[in-house]
Amino acid sequence: MTSSAPDRNLAMELVRTTEAAALAASNWVGRGDKEGADGAAVDAMRLIMGTVGMTGTVIIGEGEKDDAPMLYNGEVVGDGSEPHVDIAVDPVEGTTLTANGRGGATAIIAVSETGTMFNPGPIVYMEKIATGPEAAKAISIEASVGENVKAVAKAKGLDVREVTVMVLDRPRHAPIIEEVREVGARIHLISDGDAPGAISTAIDGSGIDILFGIGGTPEGVIAAAALKCLGGAIVGRLYPRDDAEREAAIAFGHDLERPLSTDDLVAGDNCFFAATGITTGSILRGVRYNRLGATTHSLVMRSRSGTVRFVEAQHRHNKLDV
Ligand code: FBP
Repeated sequence: MTSSAPDRNLAMELVRTTEAAALAASNWVGRGDKEGADGAAVDAMRLIMGTVGMTGTVIIGEGEKDDAPMLYNGEVVGDGSEPHVDIAVDPVEGTTLTANGRGGATAIIAVSETGTMFNPGPIVYMEKIATGPEAAKAISIEASVGENVKAVAKAKGLDVREVTVMVLDRPRHAPIIEEVREVGARIHLISDGDAPGAISTAIDGSGIDILFGIGGTPEGVIAAAALKCLGGAIVGRLYPRDDAEREAAIAFGHDLERPLSTDDLVAGDNCFFAATGITTGSILRGVRYNRLGATTHSLVMRSRSGTVRFVEAQHRHNKLDV
């Protein structure tokens, strides 16, 4: 953004969108319906988004306009006022987790100055390595898994055997898992949700030191915004699934060999991040119902100020339909 840099903490408003999405999705927990959960969260997030003081262009949304009636890539959202910003939304990060009632499903929004957010275009996956502030300068996508684990251990003053590595449980990650085991570190496998996974590496007390693996590019950009707020880092490289995707990515303008840094994924130093737990994970508690209504637990952050807030909110029954 050139004319008017954001001068207030937008994340304080944005958290209302993730609270709404999490509350809506929580009605679908365990119902075996990924699309139902996602649709409810998108509707709720969009409704509140219209009240947020910004003019936001969705860079990472629910897909292309024809397939996604709301929060589609390129859609302009907000109340039409300043600032002008780029937006990444994931109303349900962990649709399968939600459908199956498993932990770690999260509603997320990330916002940065216009023109600063990486647009994945047709590239679905990227390789990722993420870690927290102490080891942010120690990771490299060009180094081996073992070298990265050792570098993180050294930066954190830990023995390699004390380092815990998070990896998405996928057959494609067998070589990563083998290398982590060879070097002697511990592994925490997750079935979904590598954005909260990457973020957890920068949260004290999460018990996670580093995340490796190939996961969604949108989730990589979202994690970059959060890690920027937390002083952590994510490095990566685009990972085309086949020749058609490789060609589409090159036509889109991507350099597939280029190592990507946190700054490549979200440039500048004025991004905002809000996330609310749908089901309980390593950072956030999920939505809980009580006699008054429901409670939500959210993470609210801004990179420029470095403020990191955990917000617990009570929502009354009669407000939950909104
Ligand atoms: P959804 O919420 O869209 O289902 O994504 C969940 C997720 O686990 C992401 O956290 C991760 O980046 C991606 O899917 C991994 O993709 P895949 O399931 O194809 O391995």
